Amino acid sequence: MYNQFRKDFPILNSTFHGKPLIYLDNAATSQKPNSVLKAEGEYYQKHNANPYRGLYELSVEATDAYERARKVAAEFIHADNPSEVIFTKNTTEALNLIAYSYGRSVLNSGDEIVLSISEHHSNIIPWQQAAKEKGAVLTYLYLNEEGHILEEDLEKKITENTKIVSVAHVSNVLGTIHPIEKIIQKAHSVGAVVVLDTAQGIPHYPVDVKQLDVDFLVFSGHKMLAPMGIGVLYGKEKLLNAMPPFLTGGEMIEYVSEQVATFAPLPHKFEAGTPNVGGAVGLAAAMEYINQIGYETIQKTEEELTGYALEELNKLWDITIYGDKANNGKRSGVISFNVDGIHPHDTASILDGDGIAIRAGHHCAQPLMKYLKVPATCRISFYFYNTKEEIDLFIQSLKKVRRWLGYGN
Ligand code: ALA
Repeated sequence: MYNQFRKDFPILNSTFHGKPLIYLDNAATSQKPNSVLKAEGEYYQKHNANPYRGLYELSVEATDAYERARKVAAEFIHADNPSEVIFTKNTTEALNLIAYSYGRSVLNSGDEIVLSISEHHSNIIPWQQAAKEKGAVLTYLYLNEEGHILEEDLEKKITENTKIVSVAHVSNVLGTIHPIEKIIQKAHSVGAVVVLDTAQGIPHYPVDVKQLDVDFLVFSGHKMLAPMGIGVLYGKEKLLNAMPPFLTGGEMIEYVSEQVATFAPLPHKFEAGTPNVGGAVGLAAAMEYINQIGYETIQKTEEELTGYALEELNKLWDITIYGDKANNGKRSGVISFNVDGIHPHDTASILDGDGIAIRAGHHCAQPLMKYLKVPATCRISFYFYNTKEEIDLFIQSLKKVRRWLGYGN
């Protein structure tokens, strides 16, 4: 399977333990194409200064680069106004910002926050903390055998008491694509606000905040080809304007006196301190790269890979796949599995010996692990630069696992 995109990713030519790298941990972080590396490098080589602060030309260039990146990001998610795009460190920081600033402003005793049981810890703990402080309650949408949110939970658990619904677009463990349109519609019908964590979604699927009418959207750059340390929080202008700042300090102020301060307008109110301009420039380059390839190509390639991997995994008698075992358009290229009787860490170590990088553990989703009644799983996750040949080598290596650990087959 010739893949024209691999040449753009220098790291894919690496070898580990004498074998070519087979990188199947894209849900943890994606690799970076030359155009992103070049854009970030060029920013530091030619335009680096502290934005907004300097009255000299170089600082103006840094400001322009940062604000251009914000415009690219706003267009990418179809936001009306670039001021609705706040740059954060990552998804985790964006979710904390919402829980601290919006959550603590609106929550009262007895209010409910609805999450799905498959959420990443970063979409659970900020809400647990806010709930503890305000006397609110967390309610979970559970999943069926295939890893999809139960219809009846969606109907019953989002109620007049629900103030916030915060869910992942795509599960980082099972790859389930959640019915986000339906969730948003239901939440809005009871007057609740929706936070959509698309960290595992937007690298693979287009997201249009206006069409979805979503209230908040969060994602990380590093899972979608950009450098680490840059993320996005989108919020509807009206909501962001009404929220108090989260982090405070430099550049988020309007005027400071000894006892009080007033705050800068959006987006600066939420961007205290020197920002990650190089990261933002890299994120804009990543978005431009994705636009150039087109989501259609990305999806087509990944669906082919996912279908092939599921087919091959389903042939192995000693593999348990968690979640949806069918390539039915309702799941992404994230597949969690275990080799029967083998600890996932052992499986991952044996695969590593063949140059194959997968993730093993609880994937920062311990409530889901408990729900699935497993301590941990192995996880493979694809991006558009993976190939069927890599899946063949992965399957070959997987077949060795039980034999090597003394099970004889
Ligand atoms: N959230 C990332 C993952 O699922 C790190 O691996």
